[in-house]
Amino acid sequence: MDKIVIEGGLTLSGEIKISGAKNSAIKLMAVCLLTDEPLELTNMPNLRDTRSMGELLASLGVSVKTENDASRMTLHAKTLSSTTAPYELVRKMRASFNVLGPMLAREHQAKVSLPGGCAIGARPVDLHLDALKALGADIELSEGYVYAKAKGGLVGANITFPFISVGATEHTMLAAVLAKGETVLNNAAREPEIIDLADCLNAMGAKITGAGRSEMRIEGVTKLKGVSYAVVPDRIEAGTYALAAATAGGSVRLLNVRSEHLGALWPLIAKAGTKVTMDENSVLVERLGTPILPVDVETQAYPGFPTDLQAQFMAMVSLADGVSVIRENIFENRFMHCPELVRMGANITVKGREAIIRGVKSLKGAQVMATDLRASASLVAAGLAAEGTTEVLRVYHLDRGFEHIEVKLGNCGARIKRVAE
Ligand code: UD1
Repeated sequence: MDKIVIEGGLTLSGEIKISGAKNSAIKLMAVCLLTDEPLELTNMPNLRDTRSMGELLASLGVSVKTENDASRMTLHAKTLSSTTAPYELVRKMRASFNVLGPMLAREHQAKVSLPGGCAIGARPVDLHLDALKALGADIELSEGYVYAKAKGGLVGANITFPFISVGATEHTMLAAVLAKGETVLNNAAREPEIIDLADCLNAMGAKITGAGRSEMRIEGVTKLKGVSYAVVPDRIEAGTYALAAATAGGSVRLLNVRSEHLGALWPLIAKAGTKVTMDENSVLVERLGTPILPVDVETQAYPGFPTDLQAQFMAMVSLADGVSVIRENIFENRFMHCPELVRMGANITVKGREAIIRGVKSLKGAQVMATDLRASASLVAAGLAAEGTTEVLRVYHLDRGFEHIEVKLGNCGARIKRVAE
């Protein structure tokens, strides 16, 4: 298994091109199941998660072709040879559960394993299943599988989510586009990835209005056509490198960024002492010799501060000149990076959903364990700032969601390499 080895203590300087958004790409891949015409996706990130999704789709009979270093992917579900998504494939990535809705919409039946994914809390799928039931599906759970049927097809419904769920909103969209009649989603998630999904579906002939707002309307259509669609830039990858630059210090220009998608990050990173300058599609992040200041933050659904940047923000304030409090509101168990940061000399106390971070003057390199995808990125950032050598083990977590992280940071002067064990 590979590990990432970092010689810390250098500031960063250079440019980083941000890839297409992982969280969007995977859901867009599931869109291919809704049409018998080819779906071409460009600006695709080359990641373990997109490969896992490709494998799952291929097992259902989809032709999956990648070109240009995998940044262009063509998915053609002319017919489906199977409507069963097995545990071996779904467990690798939770988002792959979202093939259930499109298969149900197209074939009126599907059998999909309950998901695995990052170990960051209970993460049930009750909202997904309740929404599919509201659209007329019969659902049974047996031996770790969801058996779903919709005799005569799905029918539009008025659905109110009890709380905001990105996955359930996307999943319901993927089912309702081919349902008979109108679906209204209330308390829908508003993430840029939801808008990306709606834009792609609308380009294929769907009739979705209100994506990006709490109330979304979907007028069902009988057929969707093939299209070529470019995946939105990854706001989490951009935020991760911005925070890495703020943590290690230096000057990094992020290219191919939609800065408006990180509206909750910029004021907080500025408050922590890092200068942020934006133009149309790049952002310059600079911390040149000034101290890191403490900042409190709590995670929220979009447009609030993303849970996917919480660990990276913690790495930064672990070096602040004072005490910061970070509250995790989305997941009940997303502080697994804390003991690892403590191994590097951070002073962090976790109390329920809150972490109290007393800034230290320096971090020391250590062997640390990547525990989940975004947590791994926080350990890399901490390693860049730390004195001495940091080894981040279990890099497969990182490879799920960050394309060539060691190359991108290496191009900014970091001493970072991947070592096969
Ligand atoms: C969540 C994040 C998303 C992030 C992703 C990966 C939010 C609102 N969502 O999306 O930004 O990219 O994790 O880290 O910040 N839940 C249920 N039942 C369900 C579905 C969800 O109880 O059927 C709960 C989850 O356990 C969680 C909360 O609802 O506590 C939000 O989950 P949801 O947005 O669905 O999670 P993801 O789609 O994985």
